[in-house]
Amino acid sequence: MNLVLLGPPGSGKGTQAKRLSERLGIPHISTGDILREAVREGTALGKEAKRFMDEGKLVPDEVVIGIVKERLRGEDCEKGAIFDGFPRTVAQAEALDRIMEELGRRVDRVIDIEVSEEEVLRRLTGRRTCKNCGAMYHVVFNPPKEPGVCDRCGGELYQRDDDREETIRERLRVYREQTEPLIDYYRSKGILYSVKGEGKIEDIEGEILRAIGVEG
Ligand code: AP5
Ligand code: MG
Ligand code: ZN
Repeated sequence: MNLVLLGPPGSGKGTQAKRLSERLGIPHISTGDILREAVREGTALGKEAKRFMDEGKLVPDEVVIGIVKERLRGEDCEKGAIFDGFPRTVAQAEALDRIMEELGRRVDRVIDIEVSEEEVLRRLTGRRTCKNCGAMYHVVFNPPKEPGVCDRCGGELYQRDDDREETIRERLRVYREQTEPLIDYYRSKGILYSVKGEGKIEDIEGEILRAIGVEG
């Protein structure tokens, strides 16, 4: 099963992808996580990407397409993967189709997670992420047992650099302009499924599982 999670910043792509990855036993591929890792490590890729990320702009297509192409060579991707935050432009979607075809695979389903802009702002300004394992929390909606500490691994929780209000607004603008056209791209292929992204995390997961034909 190759599943793409589409949706604005803060729609819960990462939250759902992590759960689905465990549930389905296939890897979670987040271009955002891969880029943030490169920024932390201070690699050439990280240095280039940081300029775009801090402004809420997209990293150039050829850079992210290269990353995904390389990642899909991993043996762990043979049975499928969950794509989170990729593709994000029509050029990326076309590249993914080509890469998958070369590998004898295809994108099976695309889930569009719908949330309002007010909800996005509420969520992202309160988001905290574990430095160690990447688990996501929200100071009000999904708080850790002990403030600032990851429930799963005891790691330190931090706030992402691009989760400032003005950067969030720019990310939303970029989403509407460059990523939203993918909804029609995948709808015309007959593989798009929309789910309401507001409500309980486990209920939304159940809806996604139903959309891909797995019992929730
Ligand atoms: P990326 O890391 O992909 O960020 P994003 O798309 O802006 O999305 P987020 O990670 O902010 O949100 P999410 O949908 O994962 O929500 P989450 O589960 O965390 O990209 C960052 C940057 O990298 C881009 O701006 C760009 O520069 C670059 N980049 C990445 N990929 C690229 C690409 N393909 N091409 C070009 N550039 C690229 O949830 C959010 C919060 O809400 C959390 O606190 C969570 O606990 C909470 N929450 C989740 N679900 C619920 C719920 N149901 N109810 C209440 N709270 C909830
Ligand atoms: Mg994410
Ligand atoms: Zn952790």
